[in-house]
Amino acid sequence: MDYRRALDAVAGLIVEVDKNLIITLANRETQNRWTSIAEGNTFFYDLFFPGSKNRKPRDCIVEKTFKSGEPQSGEIETPGGDVFNVRTNYLNGKDSPKVVVHIIDITERVELEKKLEAISRKHHDQLLQADKMISLGILASGMAHEINNPNNSIMLNVSVLQKAWNSIIPILNEFSREKEGNMVIGGMKYEKMKKKMPRLFSGIQESSKKIQRIVNDLKYFSGKDLITIKKEVDIESVVRSAISLTGNMIHKSTRNFKAVYEKELPNVMGNFQNLEQVIINLVQNACQALDNPGNGIFITVTYDRNSGEIVIVVKDEGIGIPEKDLKYILEPFYTTKRSSGGTGLGLYMSSKIINDHGGTIHFNSTPGKGTFVEVRLPAVDVIVQPG
Ligand SMILES: Nc1ncnc2c1ncn2[C@@H]1O[C@H](COP(=O)(O)OP(=O)(O)O)[C@@H](O)[C@H]1O
Ligand SMILES: [Mg+2]
Repeated sequence: MDYRRALDAVAGLIVEVDKNLIITLANRETQNRWTSIAEGNTFFYDLFFPGSKNRKPRDCIVEKTFKSGEPQSGEIETPGGDVFNVRTNYLNGKDSPKVVVHIIDITERVELEKKLEAISRKHHDQLLQADKMISLGILASGMAHEINNPNNSIMLNVSVLQKAWNSIIPILNEFSREKEGNMVIGGMKYEKMKKKMPRLFSGIQESSKKIQRIVNDLKYFSGKDLITIKKEVDIESVVRSAISLTGNMIHKSTRNFKAVYEKELPNVMGNFQNLEQVIINLVQNACQALDNPGNGIFITVTYDRNSGEIVIVVKDEGIGIPEKDLKYILEPFYTTKRSSGGTGLGLYMSSKIINDHGGTIHFNSTPGKGTFVEVRLPAVDVIVQPG
């Protein structure tokens, strides 16, 4: 009886098992945990595999202990996902030998380990992803640089050529008159070529500008051109400047444009150019989403006193974004405008810049109705004047 009392006093699950793997004694804690235990009757593995019908694992550690007389340890996982660590000790009693089994529930620990492992795996994946993005950024900015120089000379040369052509025209006119309208240039009648030339020049210029735009996006993508110096900036000026820079595009896309600014907005700590770039990207996307100039674009800049944030909303009545695509729009190179020169870098860069300013960017869209983009930026502390 003293032996039983001693076992009962032990914190932990302890059972004594005979050669047939029948539990001959279970301490109080074990009885509390498995209330169905009947000493002298319950088969040891029934604790873990109810209805095990006296089936035991191939390398049963209790049997091993009987055979060797040495302590053993192992793990048992139940079908329900509980995990136990079991440790045995051989007990050479008066009447018959027994094995004492100490059972430790390690389910929580195992779950925690699994969780930690999952977290560390995810972290590792993220690091790999970040590495990839950095290499891609270096590649992209290198390429951007390489393309920029020849593209600049295309732009420069074409305007020189255009001027040259314009000044040659009177001479050619003269010539053409002498030839009585039968002069041919580049396989084309002079009069026809004269009409065509301006379009050829502007075609080259447009294409070259398009290359420049893509290259600029790529330069931004590397993050190298992001200026990290932050000062107090007046967000109204940022938005006004972005709107004036995109004025042409806005004008072409909609007859219904409105920007409203709350009075006396507090400043934000940030970089004017970077924040301006964000607004430019959002306005460009809004313009590109409109399929009818009757539809509008509305911008509001307000101050949320509760959260102390500047809230910039860019709302458009454009084509909208399908729910299933929303999760991709911030990813680099995701674009549905590939054929019209989209790079898929605008929102990626924008979200990077907003994060860098401690802000958030949030999208809400209904296909066919329009898109609502909300940017929140922490405002610098406003000193409230008493009275
Ligand atoms: N206001 C908007 N309305 C509809 N779709 C949008 C809007 N803003 C962004 N998108 C979607 O998100 C994609 C990614 O945008 P962005 O990163 O600016 O790249 P890009 O404009 O070069 O395609 C766009 O191609 C478009 O499908
Ligand atoms: Mg864009």
